[in-house]
Amino acid sequence: MNKYCIANWKMYMDKSKIDSYFEDFLHRDFNLDCKVVLCPSSIHIDYVNKLVDNNNNINIGSQDISEFESGAYTGENSLNMIIESNCDYCIIGHSERRQLFSESDANINNKLRLLNQTNVIPIVCIGETLDENESGITRPVLENQLKRIFNNIDLNNSKDCIIAYEPIWAIGTGKSADIETIYSVHKFLKNIINEINTNNCNICLLYGGSVNEDNAAEILEINEVDGFLIGSASIIADKFYNIYNKF
Ligand code: 13P
Repeated sequence: MNKYCIANWKMYMDKSKIDSYFEDFLHRDFNLDCKVVLCPSSIHIDYVNKLVDNNNNINIGSQDISEFESGAYTGENSLNMIIESNCDYCIIGHSERRQLFSESDANINNKLRLLNQTNVIPIVCIGETLDENESGITRPVLENQLKRIFNNIDLNNSKDCIIAYEPIWAIGTGKSADIETIYSVHKFLKNIINEINTNNCNICLLYGGSVNEDNAAEILEINEVDGFLIGSASIIADKFYNIYNKF
């Protein structure tokens, strides 16, 4: 199973911050057995791709795509556009898109269907709210999300598919889920994934939610964790690189 260390820069980085990020980022060693993916805002994808140049160790991803292939959808970016910008990865279903922009599992299912026809690797986010967690319904919530998102999708088995478990209450709070929770939820999810994955694709399961330099090593000891999707700690080059070095 491939390992992934993925930076979701959200809407934090402008060009001057990106320039400082890259001041010495590219001179570092990226020789570990772990793929690095940077996901800038879509308007900066070409800019970051130019800075990364031909560094094979650093990949670029989009933070989202439209569920439509083309047409009158003001403000949206199509799958074809992110392919033209040389993105190899694409996040879909992030909880911020679901909560702030009313995205549903059905919308995410449409996006996954589009991505599945190409070589772009999907990074599918799932996660429960604090209320759902406290009501003890985390597992059925996650299972429903996965079944709806992967509904009627015959996975492309020539490439990885990435699922990121991001408990919403752990995102941006500085309070990651505890080790026991991550272990048991990931174990549960791996079983569900086997049920939906009839093509035996490589489905990698990442954890996201307040991952930082202090908790990364301990979380990575869990066998069922194939890497991280990182927000706040990924926008500081040193912090992101230190997390990468725990792999
Ligand atoms: P934080 O690492 O800031 O909690 O964000 C996680 C996240 O949303 C990554 O997609």
